[in-house]
Amino acid sequence: MSIHIGAKPGEIADRVLMPGDPLRAKHIAETFLEGAVCYTQVRGMYGFIGTYKGKRVSVQGSGMGMPSMHIYASELMQEYGAKRIIRVGTCGGLRAELKLKDVVIASAASTDSNINKCRFGPISFAPSADFELLLGAYQTARERGMRATVGPIFTSDRFYSDDLPEKTKMLADYGILAVEMETCELYTLAAKHHIQALTLLTVSDNVVTDEITSPEERQTSFNDMVELALEIV
Ligand code: HPA
Repeated sequence: MSIHIGAKPGEIADRVLMPGDPLRAKHIAETFLEGAVCYTQVRGMYGFIGTYKGKRVSVQGSGMGMPSMHIYASELMQEYGAKRIIRVGTCGGLRAELKLKDVVIASAASTDSNINKCRFGPISFAPSADFELLLGAYQTARERGMRATVGPIFTSDRFYSDDLPEKTKMLADYGILAVEMETCELYTLAAKHHIQALTLLTVSDNVVTDEITSPEERQTSFNDMVELALEIV
């Protein structure tokens, strides 16, 4: 067992989907995996293993924010031999042309977090997606007729902040598509451990237009994106 995951080595697949919400991990395992078994319930951060089209796949909740992603992704990589991790989450769209329920395939993640300043000091590291996974996600999304956009995102340390309107406008002007709270750390850890990582996000709200999806819409578009992730992981 690692400190935060209650599984023995070998009980977690080397291909892992990571939703932020542990109940989404349960939903994904119950809806899409055959023979799903829960391998951890420590702190309610569920993790499951099962098969998808004959391949062993795990689904592990990451929690919200970079510190929580840091804990679960580090342990998956260091203690359980994860080789491919796909984060499946939601984001706030920063550009008006991004429609609710669109999929964002995150090519790179900027951040206002201090974590990489602690790691790299004066060097500004550029956390980026694995190209093979990114290409696979884009091609598969196109084949399935899904609206998917590839581009950079912003991993924020805050969900609520006074300076967000000006900052998000500036980020959008610099080509950033959307905001979420975990990817920068996932991509940085994947680089450190020489493994493949990708983030897929559905647009749950648009920060520019103030549109927001209903819970039902969120679930359907999330399911379509999860199937996309399972196809390529
Ligand atoms: N901000 C940060 N994270 C998010 C958002 C947002 O607006 N929407 C979904 N995840």
